[in-house]
Amino acid sequence: MFGRDPIEYKTNDEIRKIRRAGLVVANIHEALREAAKPGVTTGELDLIAGRVLEEAGARSNFLGYHGYPANACISVNETIVHGIPGDRVLTDSDIVSFDCGAILDGWHGDACITVLMPNASEDDRKLSEFTETAMWTGIAQLAKAKHVGEVGAAIEDYVDSIPEDIRPGLVEEYMGHGIGSQMHQPPDVLNYRAKNKGAKIKPGMVLCIEPMLTAGNPASRVLEDDWTVVTVDGSHASHWEHEVAIHRGGIWVLTAPDGGAAGLAPFGVEPVPLG
Ligand code: MF3
Ligand code: CO
Repeated sequence: MFGRDPIEYKTNDEIRKIRRAGLVVANIHEALREAAKPGVTTGELDLIAGRVLEEAGARSNFLGYHGYPANACISVNETIVHGIPGDRVLTDSDIVSFDCGAILDGWHGDACITVLMPNASEDDRKLSEFTETAMWTGIAQLAKAKHVGEVGAAIEDYVDSIPEDIRPGLVEEYMGHGIGSQMHQPPDVLNYRAKNKGAKIKPGMVLCIEPMLTAGNPASRVLEDDWTVVTVDGSHASHWEHEVAIHRGGIWVLTAPDGGAAGLAPFGVEPVPLG
């Protein structure tokens, strides 16, 4: 508005570099899916994330971020986001989100998956499915949107379309963001409909889309450690996130090995990878 556009627009070459960081995050997720078994501690899983980063020649962008003490955020059951890995032992019925990131060559990757332990409840499986679908709904909207605000509107409309008796809560305090040479950049990417249309979508934007849903009331509070965000009512939560580039040819999901093809297919959207 006052002449300075704070959004970092990336060149195609820069987007290709971010893709490499995004694939490191995808590798971390693959390793964690494999290792997340009942009996393992979240601290042990964090070490695995660190090993994958090291093998890739990358670093964690979370570690040391405003003093954050671990490689990844691991959020179990009633924890919505920013769970600190430690002595907590996973049980066979937990729902766990793994929010992971990487810096490679100065560029940032950031994505989150939710994993269900073998005896997780049907309600928790549904919760994760709803959250993942909310994320893909937002990403599909981004492919045709003129303003960033359309993403949050699509996510909220999707959640509102779920029958009321099973409709999850939509967390509003935490949101997606621009990303690139820093992990958090403008613009904000809200997960709900707002009055403000949001930033105009232009080629070169790279955005993280990351809805969080709860089985009960979405009201949250932060624990004494100043990080861990839990639901006030103790209900379980799910968080899914991908990092998406917008370029002249289309969108490309940088943290999905297939570029987003499978997730976007139900929406009739084809991602366009840069060669
Ligand atoms: N990855 C989170 C996000 O999606 C941020 C993690 S905060 C940190 O924006 F401190 F843990 F790094
Ligand atoms: Co993020």
